[in-house]
Amino acid sequence: MTERSAVEIVELSASDVELAADELAQLLLDAHNAGMALGLTGPLERERAADVWRATAALLDPRDRVMLAARSERSLVGVVQIVRAPAENGSHRAEIVRFAVRGDRRGAGVGRVLLEAATERARELGLSLLWLSTHAGTDSDRIYERLGWTRMGTMPGYSVRPDGTIAASAFYYLEL
Ligand SMILES: CC(C)(COP(=O)(O)OP(=O)(O)OC[C@H]1O[C@@H](n2cnc3c(N)ncnc32)[C@H](O)[C@@H]1OP(=O)(O)O)[C@@H](O)C(=O)NCCC(=O)NCCS
Repeated sequence: MTERSAVEIVELSASDVELAADELAQLLLDAHNAGMALGLTGPLERERAADVWRATAALLDPRDRVMLAARSERSLVGVVQIVRAPAENGSHRAEIVRFAVRGDRRGAGVGRVLLEAATERARELGLSLLWLSTHAGTDSDRIYERLGWTRMGTMPGYSVRPDGTIAASAFYYLEL
């Protein structure tokens, strides 16, 4: 926890996620409002966003899929998942997915604290390599290098943004 962000990092169980599905939905809605899809097509309605978290809850696994959240005064203001690669020869690596901070709490250090906690948790899980992708040319695409990640480059036409346009993604990795 830092003064700047004043958040506590917690690891969420499946039942925590189910109970907080409506609150977590706001993080996806805020991401879509900022033009960031987080794997979901737009338009995104609140109920579908909550359902996405309920589906995620069912997939959580202490070794292969872990979800961390940033909590501030009993609210969840940020979230991130570590997803181990399913490949037999890739179990040392994981993807960082659905990393989001609530719209009204961005730019105040919550994302940094959360991603650093995810990195630490990944080490504990025995992982030695993390990677992620994000829509190229966005604010998010300017953040990861500040957090110590290496930008590999972009892939054109990788995914669809909330407004329906197909867009390039930037790919990053972090060796642990
Ligand atoms: C990406 C996101 C999770 C980052 O969380 P955050 O709390 O806003 O990030 P932080 O305030 O901790 O900032 C992290 C670093 O990036 C820098 N940064 C933040 N916004 C920035 C911007 N728009 N441009 C450049 N740098 C920026 C910060 O200065 C900080 O570096 P520092 O600690 O060295 O000063 C958040 O902005 C978000 O939810 N965005 C919408 C969803 C999204 O894009 N998710 C990522 C998809 S891969």
